[in-house]
Amino acid sequence: MLKVEKIDAFYGDSQILHSVSLEVEDGGRVAVVGRNGAGKSTLLKSIMNAGPTVKGKVIWKGTEFGSMQTFRRVREGIALVPEDRRIYRHVTVRENIAMSAYGVRKGETPLDVDELIERFPMLKPIRDRPGGQLSGGQQQMVAVARAIAARPSLMMLDEPTEGLAPVIVEQLAKDIAGICRDTGAGLLLCEQNLWFARQCTDRLYVIDTGRIVFEGDWAKLDAQPEIKTRYLAV
Ligand SMILES: Nc1ncnc2c1ncn2[C@@H]1O[C@H](COP(=O)(O)OP(=O)(O)OP(=O)(O)O)[C@@H](O)[C@H]1O
Ligand SMILES: [Mg+2]
Repeated sequence: MLKVEKIDAFYGDSQILHSVSLEVEDGGRVAVVGRNGAGKSTLLKSIMNAGPTVKGKVIWKGTEFGSMQTFRRVREGIALVPEDRRIYRHVTVRENIAMSAYGVRKGETPLDVDELIERFPMLKPIRDRPGGQLSGGQQQMVAVARAIAARPSLMMLDEPTEGLAPVIVEQLAKDIAGICRDTGAGLLLCEQNLWFARQCTDRLYVIDTGRIVFEGDWAKLDAQPEIKTRYLAV
């Protein structure tokens, strides 16, 4: 289980997160939704110790991370797919996914790359194409496949739908929900696309100017339309 307890996050002197707490149970699928600049990426980076200065606790499987470095957190079973996806341009899709071997926990073997590609319909025809020749949607699929190949207990995705065509967004929702179900991996998804977030998760937090302003399941959000109008610009 991931437990974030009252974290404050700072870039230099400016405080971005204010006493943010959240939980993702083992195998749970949870969204964090909020507008541009609300602090979603800062939250994921804080969990990974990858940028901001963080106060408060990040507890993973009962142990506080403290000052543990990012790559060690990855090896503890958390995978982050960042906003910019970080696809290697000069190696193939297959090779991009195979890189995940470096993030595997001690004693575990990564998922078989070819088997994994079979499960992503969009990846099959492009497995030998260089990363630099992929569309945005294809890059996102590769980034998700690469993350899941390391067999994480928790996959964190930072706005995977950004810039993608609606038909690709639908395919991605199916693939992500399916892959989490099949592997038992938990999901912490930061998104602005509410439709997509709803397809992939059971529960959500709404973040606004670095503070959690709502927490509950999607039915509870439906029952409080003012939350959507006030914080989510819909
Ligand atoms: N490296 C940085 N240095 C200083 N301030 C930053 C840095 N990165 C982000 N910020 C600021 O922190 C705030 C939160 O940004 P963050 O990227 O976490 O938001 P976000 O919810 O991910 O937004 P988006 O949906 O646009 O990706 C913003 O005001 C942003 O300008
Ligand atoms: Mg962001």
